[in-house]
Amino acid sequence: MNLDLSEYKKDFPIFQRKVRGGNSLVYLDSAATSQKPTAVIEAESNFYRTINAAVHRGAHLLAEEASDAFEMSRSNVASFIGADSSEVVFTKSATESLNIIAYSLGNPDSRINIKSGDQIVVTEMEHHANLIPWQQLAKRTGASLSWLSFTEDGRIDLSNIKDVINSKTKIVAVTHQSNVFGTILPIDEISKAARAVGALVVLDACQSAPHFPINVKELDVDFLAFSGHKTLGPTGIGVLWGKHQLLEKLEPVVFGGSMVDSVTMTGATWASAPRKFEAGVPNMAQAVGLSAAIDYLRSIGLNNIAEYEHELTKYLLEGLASMSGIKVIGPLDLKDRGGVISFTVDGVHPHDVGQVLDQYGIAVRTGHHCAWPLMRKLKIAGTTRASFHLYNNREDIKQLIDGIEKVKSYFKVAK
Ligand code: ALA
Repeated sequence: MNLDLSEYKKDFPIFQRKVRGGNSLVYLDSAATSQKPTAVIEAESNFYRTINAAVHRGAHLLAEEASDAFEMSRSNVASFIGADSSEVVFTKSATESLNIIAYSLGNPDSRINIKSGDQIVVTEMEHHANLIPWQQLAKRTGASLSWLSFTEDGRIDLSNIKDVINSKTKIVAVTHQSNVFGTILPIDEISKAARAVGALVVLDACQSAPHFPINVKELDVDFLAFSGHKTLGPTGIGVLWGKHQLLEKLEPVVFGGSMVDSVTMTGATWASAPRKFEAGVPNMAQAVGLSAAIDYLRSIGLNNIAEYEHELTKYLLEGLASMSGIKVIGPLDLKDRGGVISFTVDGVHPHDVGQVLDQYGIAVRTGHHCAWPLMRKLKIAGTTRASFHLYNNREDIKQLIDGIEKVKSYFKVAK
């Protein structure tokens, strides 16, 4: 392996614990949620220890310091994705970010909105968070929902893109990297097709932002969502990025304090974005924790993390290819592919695979991975999924391969 990031594992206190009868933890479920380095845990806890106060309200020192820390976190998130801070909204999760866009686009008072007869385009490989909000938007407005399919090897099928993204299309909402296949989608081609018909592009960056550098300007998208907890940051914080002029056109979804310009007994007007989307006392400590996660990722380098995970992916794909009775669900080659590897074991239910692996301290995700339509199309109940972050190493993969051999032997899978 050219690049070795294994020295960073010690920064993650969770790996000091033993699981299931004294086994070391082999954590291969970072696509569901990532582990947290000490720097993040301390940043969040130091906020509570030293400057905790409601931001943008009090006239006292703590309120001033907390507000500064919160807004500095926003600037840090903005620079992480090549954006301006006025375009970054803190939400509770990526799911909430996507719901805010979809809900607001269904409000006739928004100056960009979806109407009956319009079309929303997604892909057949979306996880539920970037599918159901659009289904609901279509239902509420009378718009239709179409999708780009995927090919047998888990890549997006662009052969009919000009039919699917057509003059009726107003929104194209796609994942950057599939949480099942690991495929990285060609966002440039999808954006180009959307631009040709004047549609807006929403990018679900849940599986990309934590693993490789992203820049909203280079991606040429209009809105983007990612979660803190998959990005080595705390739970309870998500990011919604939108071009400022578009955010200004959208009506807020949650109402209350801090998001207003003026209020009378009968009505209210809204503050500018991002504040109008952040009603109530926001998730301040979590924003500070996310900012620490971004500093930590940058100190290692997103390009290095991507390269390292690429090597781990290669190693696991080679290992799985050498085994009988195993089918990888997704691309077998490394081109445009991230560190998420789904597979099936002949004749063994994924939950049984996961349970046996767990006995050896190996944590994987099993089931439909919140991407049920994808599984339906493949006519499978689910997969076993291994997903990496920078704290994984070759030893984890060796343990996984050994664990799968034990599954095969336990369930008498033919050699
Ligand atoms: N979408 C997350 C996953 O893939 C929850 O596990």
